[in-house]
Amino acid sequence: MKDDVNKPSGTKATAHSAMPAPGFPATRLRRPRQADWSRRLVRETTLTVDDLIWPIFIIDGENKREAVKSMPGVERLSVDLAVKAAEDAAKQGIPVIEVFPNTPSDLRSADGAEAFNPDNLACRAVRAVKAAVPDIGVMCDVALDPYTDHGHDGLLSDDGRILNDETLDVLIRQSLVQAEAGCDILGPSDMMDGRIGAIRQALEDTDFQNVQLMSYTAKYASGFFNPFRDAVGSSGTLSGDKKTYQMDLGNSDEAVREAELDIAEGADMIMVKPGLCYIDILYRLKSQFGMPTFAYQVSGEYSMLMAAVQNGWLDGDRVIEESLIAFKRAGADGILTYFALDMAKKLNARRG
Ligand code: PBG
Repeated sequence: MKDDVNKPSGTKATAHSAMPAPGFPATRLRRPRQADWSRRLVRETTLTVDDLIWPIFIIDGENKREAVKSMPGVERLSVDLAVKAAEDAAKQGIPVIEVFPNTPSDLRSADGAEAFNPDNLACRAVRAVKAAVPDIGVMCDVALDPYTDHGHDGLLSDDGRILNDETLDVLIRQSLVQAEAGCDILGPSDMMDGRIGAIRQALEDTDFQNVQLMSYTAKYASGFFNPFRDAVGSSGTLSGDKKTYQMDLGNSDEAVREAELDIAEGADMIMVKPGLCYIDILYRLKSQFGMPTFAYQVSGEYSMLMAAVQNGWLDGDRVIEESLIAFKRAGADGILTYFALDMAKKLNARRG
């Protein structure tokens, strides 16, 4: 569109001399918007490859890839192919990948013991990636849901209640085997009370004091996780919902309290999850605490955008980046997103 910003119409000028608007025409906010160079010059927020964390799904086997039906374009990868994916990510400059195992169903149990098997899928993936691509950061989830036969993040009592403190012991064991395998960042996503302090203490006691904790601080009992549960194979097994441990959708002050606790207990970074629906929480936590703060653009957000893009209803080149810039503008230091590799390729191609 041709620009007319510097040629105000006579009518407008007359209107303004009758009732001068304060600041106008000395201030015309459209002036810097007129050319690409000028927009770039005054842009407040930019997205870079350094902002991206790429979650990937792992399956047993070799040279195996499986499409995740509810997440078009996302695949589960065997460990050898996950190493190739990590190499691609490192080549694009992505700082961190997160590995999510799809545990074979015969290894899922009520007590989630596979979570602390040092040879479980997550640990094997971490070891293989760190050996082949030492310069990429590797993050692991801490929660029992890919390992329990009931699909919950914690242990259950006989009458189906979550056993908070008993679960902490298992989370500690899970954290330690993942740290031992070479994991750089542990991401407790289970929402048990006290888990950050318990894990931090265990890491201190065992010479893993340099392992970072990115707490899933404000994690809501969201409907946007369903495609993820397909991807890790826990949707079929999940009995009930996660409302007794994940946060209530209506709460915001409570997110501040969660953050205060996580910070006091030794979190290095905090996270808000899901992303776009909770961007007010992200803004609030970053403003209040000034911690390294991350947003998780979760599976359902990915699937929603991809469905519209695949139907030709939205232009993926525009809306994916737009959604990611929103997180940064709201205060995120980085974003966990299934778009990370594609976005990184686009950002790098643009730089030439
Ligand atoms: C496991 C976990 C979940 C996600 C990350 N870690 C699912 C859940 O809590 O049910 C969701 C990620 C996504 O939807 O992309 N505790």
